[in-house]
Amino acid sequence: MDILRDIASLKRWRLNQSAVGFVPTMGALHDGHLSLVDQAQKDDMTVLVSIFVNPTQFNQASDLEAYPNTLDADLAALDQAGVAAVYLPDFDQVYPDGYRYQVNENTLSQQLCGAHRPGHFDGVLTVVMKLFNLVKPERAYFGEKDHQQLQLIQGMVAAFFMDIEVVACPIIRESDGLAMSSRNLRLTPEQRALAPQLHQTMASGVPIQQMKQRLSDLGFVVDYLESHGGRLYGAAFLGEIRLIDNVPYQAEEAA
Ligand code: PAF
Repeated sequence: MDILRDIASLKRWRLNQSAVGFVPTMGALHDGHLSLVDQAQKDDMTVLVSIFVNPTQFNQASDLEAYPNTLDADLAALDQAGVAAVYLPDFDQVYPDGYRYQVNENTLSQQLCGAHRPGHFDGVLTVVMKLFNLVKPERAYFGEKDHQQLQLIQGMVAAFFMDIEVVACPIIRESDGLAMSSRNLRLTPEQRALAPQLHQTMASGVPIQQMKQRLSDLGFVVDYLESHGGRLYGAAFLGEIRLIDNVPYQAEEAA
């Protein structure tokens, strides 16, 4: 597996590849990330994974500082999975402009997670645009757990006529239903035991108000639970840890 630490090595590597499947990540990899790699390999792509904890998408410094770093284990897992190359840029490489230039979307990015994390999707879209321009992949793979992110990236690719196929991959869950997330590593044993209740409650099909009540009775602090376009989106805190999930949802069923 090639480890690429700067743009020059990335460009040299890229010259020798034809069909590149790109999996952008912020590290702390789990089976959800590996499922994206697996899908890219099934699509016969040469897989490049980036690991870059993108500061511009964190709206709270404490969340950025606490973001798990498991680089050695990540590299071992990617090597084991047969990934061709890993790109490990630093901030100055990705932001030579110091984040003066940004990609903004002004509608969907203001709802759901965007309404609760000001600037979050500006950071996501900007870094993804930059990484796409550096890697120049044929396809890029994103998980449906971050469904709003996925939709915004699909929209950006269409709006800017970017010649990249965005491939949506299903949510990977723990056996108790908890959606896999790097942030799960930060849950205490008590919080981890409670965490699957977010998915179980959201999948219960009861009216949203009842779900909110149930979650707060259990000890969650609900950020939002909203249905849009046949899907229920939710975010809730357990202590400092913010969990998100989404499930198919017919609003009428809940009436
Ligand atoms: O989903 C993530 O891990 C991040 O938002 C992404 C797409 C790698 C951009 O930093």
